[in-house]
Amino acid sequence: MPLLIKNGRIITATDDYCADIYCEGESISRIEAGIDASSLPSGTEVIDAVGKYVFPGFIDPHVHIHLPFMGSNAIDDHESASKAALVGGTTTLIEMICPGPNDEPLAAFNEWNDLASPASAVDYTFHMAVVRFDDLAQDQLKQIVADYGIASFKIFLAYKGALNLDDSDLFDLLTMAKDLGVITTAHCENADAIDAMQTKLISEGKTGPEWHEPSRPVCVEAEGVHHLSTFAELTGAHIYAVHTSCAPAVKAAVAAQLRGVNIWVEAVAPHLILDETYAQQADFVGAKYVMSPPLREKSNQDVLWNGLKSGAISTIGTDHAPFNFVGQKDMGTEAFTKIPNGIPSVQERVDLIHTFGVLAGKIDLNTMVSTCSTKAAQIFGLYPRKGSISVGADADLVIYDPNCKHTLSVDSSYSKIDYNAYEGWELTGRSSVVTVRGQVQARDGEFVGTVGRGQLLKRKPTHF
Ligand code: URP
Ligand code: ZN
Ligand code: ZN
Repeated sequence: MPLLIKNGRIITATDDYCADIYCEGESISRIEAGIDASSLPSGTEVIDAVGKYVFPGFIDPHVHIHLPFMGSNAIDDHESASKAALVGGTTTLIEMICPGPNDEPLAAFNEWNDLASPASAVDYTFHMAVVRFDDLAQDQLKQIVADYGIASFKIFLAYKGALNLDDSDLFDLLTMAKDLGVITTAHCENADAIDAMQTKLISEGKTGPEWHEPSRPVCVEAEGVHHLSTFAELTGAHIYAVHTSCAPAVKAAVAAQLRGVNIWVEAVAPHLILDETYAQQADFVGAKYVMSPPLREKSNQDVLWNGLKSGAISTIGTDHAPFNFVGQKDMGTEAFTKIPNGIPSVQERVDLIHTFGVLAGKIDLNTMVSTCSTKAAQIFGLYPRKGSISVGADADLVIYDPNCKHTLSVDSSYSKIDYNAYEGWELTGRSSVVTVRGQVQARDGEFVGTVGRGQLLKRKPTHF
């Protein structure tokens, strides 16, 4: 059904103006002031957006949905996670495919895509994790890029013995990525340093979730960013540091940017909003807040917000990785090293950033759009189809009520997880209507769309 959005305030990464938007089929066909509804085909749905913002659909460049990890599986499926994303204004997800070190990349791609394809209510693509780099893996990775448009890799410098890549494979992978024009996203923490610190702390009887952060302090992350940057400098590869949590890591990335390394930086909602005291809560409650890199001392948040404002940090994702408190996080009651890492926020991200970023004066509305949508589209080969409001772009639109007050709760979450890291928090601003390729998929915090509407977005490598 055609869609006319009238009287909204259109806010993109660069513009802020009032106009009407007419969508036919799956894309935007007109953006003009005063489009006359009576001149449009009968059956056109007219949405009055007076007093509301109209944003391009938000993109989350870092989510985990299907995630076998640390002896457990993340609790969402593609239906629950994509519904959660949608009601929160996110219309495109980029999920990490994280196979085990013995799995074949192509089988992993098919496993993830077969799960997403029938169930995702949002459009999606993947970052393909490289956890082995033998000849077979190299051939299959090239095939995944060419045949399925997976134009980004993911590597882990952390998670020793499970996911991490050694330096010789790192050099060869980045060399291949440069040839293919593929950008490599990376979890930057030194695996051996963490392993040594964990062993030491546990042997001293320091077993609670409050010891997770001291086991991987800021210098370990900064070393990871510097390490990755060095290999990118040697190979010319383009890199993207995911979930950058702290001032020393941001400084390492900026130092690399200044010497000409092609490095982009991601922040994620938990690090911007939550600090280490959440993971220090007594009676194991802190386990709800164990993620890696860990929640940091609060002063790091100013560096992250200022990095977003200045452009040194490009994107805000979530690193959504939901593990239940009961039955999963509690696998680590005897040792923090066994707590599955992750804090979910795919539903909450946009409203958290509006409340604690825009309304708190840390970033402006254009920066919110840029960092939560447009930059991800540009970096990962989705722009201008995604991340823009322009004629011909996909009609992924968020009509946003900046004055709606609502309270976050596990009860109103579409994620399957048994807790909400932001339980009881009052936020200002919520998506009123969310469309994916011209179809209304969410209204006022409720999913009203079609499961399985999401499509795999094939991307072209651009990072030569
Ligand atoms: O704690 C986290 N971040 N869990 C998900 C896996 C990862 O490292 O991104
Ligand atoms: Zn990570
Ligand atoms: Zn992650």
